[in-house]
Amino acid sequence: MESDERATPPGDESIGEIEKHNLNVDITTLPIYTRSQLAQFNGTDRPQTYVAIRGYIYDVSSNAKNYGPGKSYHRLVGKDVTRLFGLNTLSLTSARSQGDSRSWYTGDFTAKENAAVDSWVSFFRKRYPIVGLVVDHDSG
Ligand code: HEM
Repeated sequence: MESDERATPPGDESIGEIEKHNLNVDITTLPIYTRSQLAQFNGTDRPQTYVAIRGYIYDVSSNAKNYGPGKSYHRLVGKDVTRLFGLNTLSLTSARSQGDSRSWYTGDFTAKENAAVDSWVSFFRKRYPIVGLVVDHDSG
């Protein structure tokens, strides 16, 4: 009881362990990664596979069948893919492309696109632990 200062949906006693971990995560103590450091967490350069959304890094290593090297969603790994989720695309080659190095960019998003990202955030927060934050220390 005592640790839960953040609001959880009423009646949701069955909140999972991972979601609980994510609700209680202290962002002031999370490791901070640059974009090029994050890129190494791709299951090859580093054994873990990480995916970031809105700056939060999730460890998706538990789901190698989707995110592992050579798998369908491997292209989402090692970067902040907020833009891909918002635009519902796996590659930023469309008219609204900002290029892969801007896969985190949401400055031009509509409310609907932001809502699509929100849904993915909820999905990830239930399934994958937050392990860090990604910041703009480098241009990559
Ligand atoms: C025609 C388009 C698409 C189809 C038919 C499709 C189908 C699927 C299916 C069947 C799964 C479940 C795989 C499994 O757990 O075994 C899945 C997972 C997933 N899809 Fe798609 N998908 C499509 C497009 C997209 C797009 C555009 C994105 C990203 C913007 C996306 C992101 C994901 C992610 C991240 C997962 C893994 C979720 C997880 O378990 O962590 N999908 N998709």
